[in-house]
Amino acid sequence: MPRHVAIIMDGNGRWAKARRLPRLAGHKQGAEAVRRTVRAAGEMGLEALTLYAFSSENWRRPATEIADLMGLLRSYIRAELRELDRNNVRLVIIGDYVRLDRDLVAMLEDARRQTAGNDGLTLAIALNYGSQDEMVRVVRAIAEEARAGRLDPAAIDCEAIEARLDTAVLPPLDLLIRTSGEQRLSNFLLWQAAYAELLFVDTLWPDFDGAALASAIESFAGRMRRYGGL
Ligand code: FPP
Repeated sequence: MPRHVAIIMDGNGRWAKARRLPRLAGHKQGAEAVRRTVRAAGEMGLEALTLYAFSSENWRRPATEIADLMGLLRSYIRAELRELDRNNVRLVIIGDYVRLDRDLVAMLEDARRQTAGNDGLTLAIALNYGSQDEMVRVVRAIAEEARAGRLDPAAIDCEAIEARLDTAVLPPLDLLIRTSGEQRLSNFLLWQAAYAELLFVDTLWPDFDGAALASAIESFAGRMRRYGGL
């Protein structure tokens, strides 16, 4: 059983296009898939699930689509927070999320505070997240500490970097899934994926569910992880 699974939720647009529906319809079904998958992950006893909801590059999309995605995120938090809390889920946000709309930032921080004491599934939602941006923020923080004399450059090692990543509160990443048949990491968890198993599935994100997650975990269980050893 993996401890930490991350998912690049891809294919909402293609799901909608195949049905001659607006892209928003695909994102709405994508939000339903988030609900199903989070519930299933909790029931399976997974420790952490990280979902790539909005990348630092997604700002290049049309303003209307960005507003739709933020709207769906607002409704998800509004509608699901009580259930997440009841199911002992702890919500974590990774990425430079403080750059989102003020009301959304406040809502996310409230949700995080409210669920901080839960010790079931940790649900990490990646918002305005880009792995390279995360590493730049870490390097800046380390440089500031070194300049202030609080950190000896000779003491900078992998642990020092990991402790400053947005994911520091999460267990090591075991399995990274991307839906919709694309085989790219798209600036997601590049450091964290160093020893993760990668799984690319053809399912479009709006069709993803607990059974798809279970089947991904089953394929993970069949892999041999050697971490560079024999
Ligand atoms: C990729 O599909 C999906 C996204 C960029 C956004 C993911 C957002 C959601 C699943 C909904 C809201 C999130 C939460 C946490 C409630 P795409 O639009 O790139 O699809 P395409 O490649 O087929 O065009």
